[in-house]
Amino acid sequence: MRRSSLRTSLFFASLLLAVLVVGGVSITTYIVVSEVVAVAAHDAAVQASLRAADIAKVRATDAALEAANRGLTGTERGQEAKRLLFRDVPVMFRGGRDGVEVAFYDENLEPLWFSDERALVVDDEARQRAMTAAKPVESAQHVRQPPLVGLFRPTTLDVLTVHVPIDLPDGTRGIIDVTYFPELEESIMDRVRLPMLVLALSSALVMVVMIQAAVGWILRGIEQLRLAAESIEAGHLEVQLPVEGNHEVANLARSLNLLIGRLRHRAAMQTRFVADASHELATPVAGIRGYTGILRAWGAEDAEVRDEAIAAIDRESRRMARLCGDLLAIVRTDQAGGIEAVPFDVNELARESMASALTRYKHKGIEHAGPPEAALEAVGDPARLEDVISVLLDNAFKYTSAGGVVTIETQATDEIVTIEVSDTGIGIPAEDLPNIFERFYRSDASRSKATGGFGLGLPIAKAAVEAMGGDITVRSAHGEGTTVTVLVPRDLSTG
Ligand SMILES: Nc1ncnc2c1ncn2[C@@H]1O[C@H](COP(=O)(O)OP(=O)(O)OP(=O)(O)O)[C@@H](O)[C@H]1O
Ligand SMILES: [Mg+2]
Repeated sequence: MRRSSLRTSLFFASLLLAVLVVGGVSITTYIVVSEVVAVAAHDAAVQASLRAADIAKVRATDAALEAANRGLTGTERGQEAKRLLFRDVPVMFRGGRDGVEVAFYDENLEPLWFSDERALVVDDEARQRAMTAAKPVESAQHVRQPPLVGLFRPTTLDVLTVHVPIDLPDGTRGIIDVTYFPELEESIMDRVRLPMLVLALSSALVMVVMIQAAVGWILRGIEQLRLAAESIEAGHLEVQLPVEGNHEVANLARSLNLLIGRLRHRAAMQTRFVADASHELATPVAGIRGYTGILRAWGAEDAEVRDEAIAAIDRESRRMARLCGDLLAIVRTDQAGGIEAVPFDVNELARESMASALTRYKHKGIEHAGPPEAALEAVGDPARLEDVISVLLDNAFKYTSAGGVVTIETQATDEIVTIEVSDTGIGIPAEDLPNIFERFYRSDASRSKATGGFGLGLPIAKAAVEAMGGDITVRSAHGEGTTVTVLVPRDLSTG
């Protein structure tokens, strides 16, 4: 529904655009052409008038000479010359040639001769001006229509008359009216008009069709994206959008494919996490149930069996409690926000964590070093940082045997606090290093079982460090020891 209304709006928008663009271009072209033609018509009129005046003057001079040759003098000579002139005028100015009509007027502006009725332009005032100024005067009969009208109707251009004063052989002054009818120019305009209209309409049509094709193509892309979004919403994460070319729609499809891929990966991780967590919980539950059975069968009679079962149930329930605590810690770090920014001493925090780890691993006889005595002030989330340091120290002590050394070092610049926990323990095989931050990953199943871990310590630490905007890296050589480096911003209050 929404898509089709968009298509309709875009159709009307493209139609309007086509009409505006093509109409604008056509009208401008037509105006330019008609102006050029009007200027050409004016030039033709002026040229015709100059020619006509020249011809008349030459003939008047010839006629005066001819009359003189006949021995006439004075007024008689003038009269005869004028008669000779007007005898030849009809031959010289045959009517309608090249759209030019000519009319002669005497000094009283009465017509002496005209090539056609059309030549008798009713404009005594202009003739009078030409007579008085003794200079040619132009006048126009405004029949020219506005350019827009000319686009749809036969063209009519201005009819131009040039009134040229001329000295007649009898000593009087007359006027030649040379009137130019721009029929040639009008016919040119008429011939241009139809092809122009056809061209304009077909360009508008082509434009609309092309815009519609482009819109259709884009909307088809959007429709595919919508279908993909719907199937994602319905839980089908296996959809993959077609990606063709390197344009914006393809780029959007590419980004959505990446998003779908990430969602798929996340969903798989989630499923694996739940499966792993259930599996880890199932082991101590099975232990507890087994020992409860033993207690029920023999616990009343055999004190040794009873004590062993109670100790085992206690051990397994502690393990369950620890796992539940770790799972809760993961859920907490997965939820965004909640990072504090309070002043604290990093070294004091490290010292307390070291003391608590030493208490837990007292029996192993491991040497320890650090952190420095001096205070290292920072602003951040001490509780989260303590979680991180505890995880690292726990691993260091857990995976180091008697006689080994666990060291914690701290240093800081104005921006960054660096905490390094290193040990001389068993180290991590190179092939396991890329996986140790995955939830429930333990590098060696049998060893981990012996040490009782879940494989949740490092993922929890990494999530906490990243929540603080920091970074955690591990360097390790199998059999030689491990160093974990944590970098966190020194002042979390400055964002
Ligand atoms: N300091 C270390 N020395 C040797 N191996 C280590 C060290 N730290 C981590 N590892 C390896 O990385 C794995 C993942 O560590 P992580 O702390 O996530 O889990 P865990 O210690 O096995 O269990 P948990 O921390 O949940 O009790 C460990 O199982 C161990 O194989
Ligand atoms: Mg651990």
